[in-house]
Amino acid sequence: MNYRHHYHAGNFADVLKHAVLVRIVRAMQRKERGFLYVDTHAGRGRYDLESAARGDTLERKPEWPEGIGRLWDRTRLPDVLADYVAQVKAFDQKLGNLETTPRFYPGSPRLVRALARPQDRLSLFEKQHDEAGALRAEFARTSGVGIQSADGYAGLKGQLPPPEKRALVLIDPPFESKDEFAQVARAVGDALKRSPAATIVVWYPLTERARVDAFFADLTMLALPPTFTFELTVVGPLHPMKMKGSGLVVINPPWELDRELAPAGTWLAEILAQGQGGRAELRWLVRES
Ligand SMILES: C[S@@+](CC[C@H](N)C(=O)[O-])C[C@H]1O[C@@H](n2cnc3c(N)ncnc32)[C@H](O)[C@@H]1O
Repeated sequence: MNYRHHYHAGNFADVLKHAVLVRIVRAMQRKERGFLYVDTHAGRGRYDLESAARGDTLERKPEWPEGIGRLWDRTRLPDVLADYVAQVKAFDQKLGNLETTPRFYPGSPRLVRALARPQDRLSLFEKQHDEAGALRAEFARTSGVGIQSADGYAGLKGQLPPPEKRALVLIDPPFESKDEFAQVARAVGDALKRSPAATIVVWYPLTERARVDAFFADLTMLALPPTFTFELTVVGPLHPMKMKGSGLVVINPPWELDRELAPAGTWLAEILAQGQGGRAELRWLVRES
């Protein structure tokens, strides 16, 4: 496995994923009862955008300037994005960045932990040894966070149903292997058998439309509860860029999340566009009844 998320941290795909994640956590916290957050592919928890730009051996073009970089100095953001950017800025400043550009970017575990209440719990899986080590160091003195250096698909089964009876699951794989979509569909099926009301968020790349549509077909075979997809492309379908955008499947979304995300999608499609034809689209796979 070669994947290192720090090359991609803060890119346009992270913006979409993390902004929605923050919003869902807020929505889950409308209820007093705590919930379990499971991150099946947690990463290292924090990313130094400066060292990521240098890469391990070669100079690599950083991706964050076309992602969080484009939101950094904006004012009058839609609510969903204002909240997310405020979280990223708070993290960056807490780690001591005094510059006017972002330096320290929080991964999904850090974003959720920053919002977690005493009654909320995090269970994080990271398979790569080095990344898991960094994640452990990141949360060394933090309560309410469990970390396992293990396969997140297998680990998820053991987490559900949680004693809290409420769960939020993020499945955010690197999509390096050909059967990743199939693994995700299986994991979602298993998770829903154990916790039918869990909110599950799956991130996916928009590199091949046909593969994504086949994935949706597999998901709908599972007799899904209410589910929508939220996609953002930054270029049109004929553009040479390989990953033209990304999407999220949101299973059992919190009430009214679709309405809250709509203005954020329209705004992001304009601000993050890298060519003609980028757009945002929210589509129900299975409608709420
Ligand atoms: C896209 S990154 C995760 C980013 C993170 N969720 C975030 O938003 O900050 C994917 C991570 O999954 C890890 N990984 C790959 N296969 C895995 C597996 N089967 N189980 C757990 N982690 C895995 C990779 O090492 C990588 O760190």
